[in-house]
Amino acid sequence: MKKILRGGTIATSQGVLKGDILIEGERIARIGGEIADVESEVIDVTGNYILPGGIDPHTHFDLDVGFTRASDNFLTGSIAAACGGTTTIIDHMAFGPKGCTLRSRVDEYHKLAGPAVIDYGFHGVVQYVDDKILQEMGELLEDEGIQSYKVYLTYDDMLSDHDVLAVLQKAKELNLVVCAHCENDGSLKLLKEQALAQGHLSTKYHPLTRPSACEAEAVYRFCMLGAMAGDANVYVVHLTTERGLYAIREARRHGQFNILAETCPQYLLLDDSLYNDPENGLKAMMCPPLRKKADQQALWQGLESEEIDTIGTDHCPFFFSTQKQRGKDNFLLAPNGAPGVELRIPLLFSEGFMKKRLELETIVKACCTRPAEIFGIASRKGDIAVGMDADIVVMDPEVKWTAGVDQLHENVDYTLYEGIELEGKPVMTISRGEVIVKNGEFIGKEGRGNYLRREPFQN
Ligand code: URP
Ligand code: ZN
Repeated sequence: MKKILRGGTIATSQGVLKGDILIEGERIARIGGEIADVESEVIDVTGNYILPGGIDPHTHFDLDVGFTRASDNFLTGSIAAACGGTTTIIDHMAFGPKGCTLRSRVDEYHKLAGPAVIDYGFHGVVQYVDDKILQEMGELLEDEGIQSYKVYLTYDDMLSDHDVLAVLQKAKELNLVVCAHCENDGSLKLLKEQALAQGHLSTKYHPLTRPSACEAEAVYRFCMLGAMAGDANVYVVHLTTERGLYAIREARRHGQFNILAETCPQYLLLDDSLYNDPENGLKAMMCPPLRKKADQQALWQGLESEEIDTIGTDHCPFFFSTQKQRGKDNFLLAPNGAPGVELRIPLLFSEGFMKKRLELETIVKACCTRPAEIFGIASRKGDIAVGMDADIVVMDPEVKWTAGVDQLHENVDYTLYEGIELEGKPVMTISRGEVIVKNGEFIGKEGRGNYLRREPFQN
């Protein structure tokens, strides 16, 4: 079946042009000019922007945190993503039982992800290191196309510097990407112990126990470990601070070309004043915490200068009315994480492009093209070009709307963006040539998403 998207403004990573797009089956067949010589269904998108379908490189669907699970599973989470214009996610797998193999996590995640409605991949997670684990990294690249792993520099299953370096050396050998959650574990543990001892248990103490230096130290250390592994591919997830960005800049200045950085909409648009209010504070319990306005400014500039490569969401929702209440009297007990997968593209379109903070192609690069390049799917996804998957979001810039939980499809009872006035809304999402969202409603089929094998990284 052929489709023509007629009369839109096409936003690619290379710039913006006016013209039609011809879709044949699952792929883009032609772009530009007026396509009048082909018989096909015509979809009139006059006045709209046509962007590549979003690629969210950082979700936690169905995340098991021990005492509860993230409330969006692969079905509800992927429907929400699709409604917000995202057509691919790469999910960070949860830690497994002590001593588990890497393969066992992938097997479990294939089962969890079966109902997904958009295409998906998995980042591996390394929670301890031995020869068998390092060998499995090679096997899973071969067997499953897993080309990225996450390591944590804090939390119970964190790795020591010794083990992070071993993972980075292996990654260098295989051209894999190592993603790291960068916070200095020892310092935040001490600050949390002190907060507990002093009865400082309200959410306003959350950012104080995880200060910006705690992130910046870990970002720099991770980069230096990457240097010691011969400039291995290091990817800093959810960068939140100006100081962390300085650390990355400094490491790059000394000749490391393979440092990659991600931030998230919440760190661009929200700040730590939310923690002064007990309700908003609980809703915004996430690690790292929200920061200062100066940090937001630095992150916007980092996107503009392309020192920050990608925008992920770290989507990890928990119901405020039930799950988050665990931290009501002690913020240290709250499940950490917040929803965001559905609003990433609308927020960046409105607050980035319409408010003239960023060019549209910069947003396309950060939300689509760079995630595809870094995580090994750029031959098919992340841009609008002939031969690529017809993954597309149609944005109507004329629609002004107020974001609110009632409008969203995420399986959770709040959004951190309640009441924000947005300009521009996704009105259609196309995944591999199929219209799966029309006027805000999902019309595709459960389980239609494909697992994506991913290629080693080429910078
Ligand atoms: O608080 C957060 N971000 N929770 C999700 C897991 C993680 O640390 O990325
Ligand atoms: Zn995360």
